[in-house]
Amino acid sequence: MSLKTFTREEVTRHNVEGDLWIIIDASVYDMSRFVDMHPGGAFPILEFAGKDATDDFYGLHRQDVLVKYDRYRIGTIANEQPQIEFYKSGEMSKVPYAESSAWMGFKSPYFNDSHFKFRVAVRKICDSLADEARAFEDAGTKPSDEFMKKLGENHLLSMNIGPGPMLHGLVLPSGLKGEDFDYFHEIIVHEETARWKVRGFDDGSVAGMVISAPTIINFGTPALKKKYIPDIFSGKKRICLAITEAFAGSDVARIRTTAVKTADGKHYLVNGTKKWITGGCWADLFSVAVQTDKGMSMLLIERSEGVETKPIKTSYSPSAGTAYVTFENVLVPVENLLGKENQGFVVVLSNFNHERFVMITQVSMSARLVIEECFKWANQRKVFGKRLIDQPVIRNKLAKMVASLESVHAWMENIAYQMNNMTYDEQSEKLAGPIALLKYQATRMIHDVSDDACQIFGGRAITKTGMGRTVETLQRTYKFSAILGGAEEIMADLGIRQAMKYFPRGARL
Ligand SMILES: Cc1cc2nc3c(=O)[nH]c(=O)nc-3n(C[C@H](O)[C@H](O)[C@H](O)COP(=O)(O)OP(=O)(O)OC[C@H]3O[C@@H](n4cnc5c(N)ncnc54)[C@H](O)[C@@H]3O)c2cc1C
Ligand code: HEM
Repeated sequence: MSLKTFTREEVTRHNVEGDLWIIIDASVYDMSRFVDMHPGGAFPILEFAGKDATDDFYGLHRQDVLVKYDRYRIGTIANEQPQIEFYKSGEMSKVPYAESSAWMGFKSPYFNDSHFKFRVAVRKICDSLADEARAFEDAGTKPSDEFMKKLGENHLLSMNIGPGPMLHGLVLPSGLKGEDFDYFHEIIVHEETARWKVRGFDDGSVAGMVISAPTIINFGTPALKKKYIPDIFSGKKRICLAITEAFAGSDVARIRTTAVKTADGKHYLVNGTKKWITGGCWADLFSVAVQTDKGMSMLLIERSEGVETKPIKTSYSPSAGTAYVTFENVLVPVENLLGKENQGFVVVLSNFNHERFVMITQVSMSARLVIEECFKWANQRKVFGKRLIDQPVIRNKLAKMVASLESVHAWMENIAYQMNNMTYDEQSEKLAGPIALLKYQATRMIHDVSDDACQIFGGRAITKTGMGRTVETLQRTYKFSAILGGAEEIMADLGIRQAMKYFPRGARL
């Protein structure tokens, strides 16, 4: 429909039932047909009929409401320009601290042109999938096969695992060669998918795979890799990591699931249960910690006779696929052993550094997204006749949020630099402690950020739809990161125990 131009004087005459126009940021909307369907009721529309409602509108609605209902826009005000910008796909935010420092005009020793181009390309891909991701999260359903395929086609599954030979030969978003993909590109991948703001769905579609696929890549035989990795990275098969049991969480060594070799030595017979397995509800493959005769081992188990999964209700969306898994007399070929028999602990431990690094990137981005919303909200919400940002107490909360996020982010970039420049063995030796401490600090940080964000958003912070949606999601889900992949207490303890390994014996006060 072609848009007309009107004077403000003309608009004032459309102010009675059946003929209701309002102005929002130099655009004119005809509300006559919408008024009875308006979720906020007819009263506010009637009150503003014929008038400019810009300030009040933005105090109550997210911008995407105007995008969705653009059909009611009939024209613009003559000789006036809109003051409010709409997000265009791939664009970087100009809101303070809404992007990390290299994207806010500051110099960086870590990021180069390839990272800048890569972020724009990945952002556009993620933007194109965002509505679908949100729809799955809201409905609480399984990420569809089609969605998983789209992730695969865009390399959004394989890039989550980090740099390595499985990316070699691929052309990644922005034309980046798989060989040139580094841990800073990986940070970008996690940050951009976090922008979907659907923690449960994110875990169900990607996170279960992130923590389990490396057990095959790093410890599977060439035959196992060939058989399963292409299907996992193309989104055809789903995999999860099954270590925790109701009997043993932090204390992994106490798991009770057993694997006993059959008399012919060709199979293991697996019996036991696993709890809180992310993506387990729809996994085709399970990377499972079991007790063998002299210690723990890891086995790759296909969904087959004797494997059952049932959903566990948690505080986030069922699209995380969190499962209680039972193995009852499941026959697993001995070729499916990951690593060496009775040395499964090596597999479990080697996985942790990368898993925790991924969690830190997501925590950091989730905090950043909420801080952006707080800045916007504090700027547009008026209370006691002033914007919230005009209150020193609110500025103080923002200061605390920004300062603690940026400290975590800077340490995260430092860790990524170490990962880029250390051999795997050096990483294993030196980084377990710092990564554990950073994860601890990141989840402490997001606890405070979520708390302050709730206070800034008021009632909307605990309302699922509308202005507070992102803050509500965070306050319901941020605790997950403080428990999964090593709980806060364990992280803090591990960090200091690792540090003490290097404490100089002769050091004294
Ligand atoms: C939604 C969700 C998804 C998950 N996904 C997976 C998955 O995909 N795969 C998987 O294998 N597991 C998964 N887990 C399990 C998760 O890793 C465990 O919950 C975690 O390891 C903690 O174990 P626990 O809950 O049994 O707590 P416990 O080990 O019982 O500990 C309880 C509390 O005590 C504290 N604590 C324990 N030991 C000490 C100590 N020595 N000193 C001080 N404090 C201590 C812990 O920090 C914790 O806060 C998931 C859990 C949840 C909730
Ligand atoms: C183009 C014009 C408008 C459209 C398309 C529109 C649409 C909507 C939608 C979709 C909602 C539900 C929002 C949500 O849950 O996030 C809503 C709520 C609401 N709207 Fe509007 N609206 C418009 C104009 C206005 C105007 C001019 C006012 C008056 C200032 C107004 C007042 C409200 C109120 C009070 C609510 C309830 C908010 C809440 O629950 O917090 N709307 N509107």
